[in-house]
Order: sequence, then C-alpha cells, then structure tokens
Amino acid sequence: MTKELKFINFHRPAIGKEEIKEVTDCLKSGWLTTGMRTKQFEAEFAKYTGAKFAVALNSCTAALHLALEALELKAGELVLVPTMTFAATAEVVRYFNAIPVLVDCHENDFNIDFSRAEKIIKDINAGRKVSGVPKKHGKLRGIIPVHFGGQPVDVEAALKLKKKYNLFIVEDCAHCCPAYYKDSSGKMKMAGRGADIACYSFYANKTITTGEGGMATTDNEKWADRMRIMSLHGISKDAWKRFTKSGSWFYEIVEPGFKYNLTDIASSIGIHQLRKADGFMKERKKIADYYGTKLKDIPGLALPYEKENTLHSWHLYAVRIDRKFTGIHRDEVIEKLKEGNIGSSVHYIPLHLHPYYRDKYGFKKGDFPNAERIFDQCLSLPIFPGLTKSELDRICGALKNILGGK
Ligand SMILES: Cc1ncc(COP(=O)(O)O)c(C=O)c1O
Repeated sequence: MTKELKFINFHRPAIGKEEIKEVTDCLKSGWLTTGMRTKQFEAEFAKYTGAKFAVALNSCTAALHLALEALELKAGELVLVPTMTFAATAEVVRYFNAIPVLVDCHENDFNIDFSRAEKIIKDINAGRKVSGVPKKHGKLRGIIPVHFGGQPVDVEAALKLKKKYNLFIVEDCAHCCPAYYKDSSGKMKMAGRGADIACYSFYANKTITTGEGGMATTDNEKWADRMRIMSLHGISKDAWKRFTKSGSWFYEIVEPGFKYNLTDIASSIGIHQLRKADGFMKERKKIADYYGTKLKDIPGLALPYEKENTLHSWHLYAVRIDRKFTGIHRDEVIEKLKEGNIGSSVHYIPLHLHPYYRDKYGFKKGDFPNAERIFDQCLSLPIFPGLTKSELDRICGALKNILGGK
C-alpha cells in the first residue's frame, strides 16, 4: 500500500519561539487587553512604515471602517472600489449607507484600472449612467485602492485622481506588509504611504499575523486621534489606561463608538512578526522565483510577476489557467490538486457577481469583463515562509501533470 502524502495547506502561519515567549509573558503579566505591548507594536509599526501615527485595531476591516469614519463619509456619497477584492473593501462603505462605485481591473496584475476609474468619474460628473450608481446620490468622496496580492497599484495615478477631483485615498494594504513602489521623486516607499489613511491586516493567513488584527496608519494627528477614540466606544483619549496606575478612572463618551481595540495578547505576536517581516518577504520572494522557473513553460498557464519599480509582497501567488490551451478548467484543477493533497484557493469572486451587490445595484455579468475573465481562470498557490522545497516540487509536479506541461 502506498503511503498517503501529507496535505499541503494553502497557508501555514510562521510562528516562532519569540512570539510564543512574548504571549506567555503577556499572559503571566496580568495585563491581557490593550496596554503597553499594543503601544509598543503601534510605535514599531509607525517606524517600520514611515507613518507618523499607527492605530492598532482588531482587524483591517475595523481599520477601513474607522478610516472612513474619520474622513467623515456620509450616507449617499460615492467611493470608488475595485470589483476584484475581498468583501471588506466595499462593505465598510455600506456601513455608512454610502455607495461603493465598482471599477474593473487590469488583466496583468489584477489591480484597479485608474483610467477606467477616471472615465467613471467623468461620466458621473456629466450625469451619464454608470453601472451600479443610482440616479440620486451624494458627492464622489474618495477611492479605496487595493494592492492585489501585494503587487502595489499605480500610486502616482491614484494621487493624480485625488488632486484632480479632490478625493480622499484610503489604501487597502491588507496584502502588503511590506510592499514597495517608486514615487515620482524616484524614492522607494512602502505601500500605504500615498494614502490619507492606510489599513493593514494581520489576519491568520496574511504576510504577518496576530491571528486577527489590523493597523491604520496616517500622518494626520486629528484622524489618528479620532480613530483611536472611536476604536474604544468613543470614550476619551487613552481610555485603555483607566485601570492602570498612571490612568484615571474618569472617562467621557464623546461619540457612540465601536469596540475595535487590539489586545496585548495579539500585539505580543505582532511585535515579533513585524521584526521578521523583511525576512518573511525574502522567503516568499524566493518561493515566487522558484514557481517562476519551474512553471514558466506550461502552455496556457500565466504566472504573476513583479512590476517594474515595485517590490511585491508576494502575499499571493495567483496564476491564470486558460482552458483553451490546457483543456481543463480551474475548478477541476483545484479538485485534482486536492486529490494530490495540495491546498489552493481563488482570489476573488468579483464583488459585482455576489448576490448582495448584484441585487442592490443591478449589476450583471459582463459589467466588468477583465475581472470576470480573471475570476474564471485564477488560482492561488501556497506561498508562505516555511514551505519546503520538497513541498514546492510536489506542487509544481502536480500542476505540470494536471496541465500537461513537460
Ligand atoms: C483585500 C482585503 N481587504 C481587507 C481584508 C480584511 O482584513 P481583516 O480580516 O483583517 O479584517 C482582507 C482580508 O482577507 C483582504 O484580503
């Protein structure tokens, strides 16, 4: 009887002894929720990204929500959002009863196409019909670009739109801690630095993790303070200190806020994950390069690549399978990989094809052809620090067998 091969998960978090020790120390310290470890994580994150302020939160979704709250988004206003993204990017716009205006993506990197975004802006301003935009609506306020898979969007193009149409930019940086792009002066900057507010995710499968967690960064003190207050019930600044010796029992509610603070247990993991972020990135890049050399000659298989003047975070390695050449659809490839005990995933079903957005805004198939073609073909392969060479060889070998490559 042949021994069954071990299942290769789509993702395995890289948790080391440093994280385990810090969590244990935190548990023994008597202080579990937001406290000194979270403050330390925020300070180190701000330094790492180059932002003046970093606000630790319990998810990237919370960060996106609080960012839009700080920017005073109002009901009926419009925000440009790529259709090729996760639920969170658009749902936070709906929290305000505002309207996400969906935009198609580029076929090469799955990122939002800013020239299409500008065409939509012009159509809206001219009163022309735009898919999903109701007749009655408020002002167009902003744009939420997503760096898909960790490949930075064209930040300079986003900034041009911001300036020309007076928009805010909230960057969805869920996939890029870190990723980099060259700005107009030729300087490499971390993804998120072009934004008014940038939002990062530390969800379990992200480039660095705290299990669940997120961070909002900004250079604007007013927005940072507002996000901090709203993350803890809308009660006065430094409310987290109210049970410490240096704090005060007194607090005042200034707004009905939310409960979005990050615990010190999570920050204990985050502090050490952040210190390893550059090393993790190098490991993922090595894996991407390995896939690149092993899979490059399979007809009908398109591989992701790092665009000029950028450094990809390689959170995702999303390939495209063109059935015309391979004779097999992506869905079947997933099943066959599973039979070989290999996990994979799909990023994403475009938002406009989901029942909520389809029914609420009347979207239909064909509205965003690039995103739909990508969705029909895309497959995300495992990519994480600790993925071994023998596992990689198994994945590449299985794919070649399934797709008929040499
Ligand atoms: C593009 C994108 N934005 C936002 C999020 C939300 O992140 P979180 O789970 O930390 O709220 C995710 C999570 O997968 C994501 O992929």
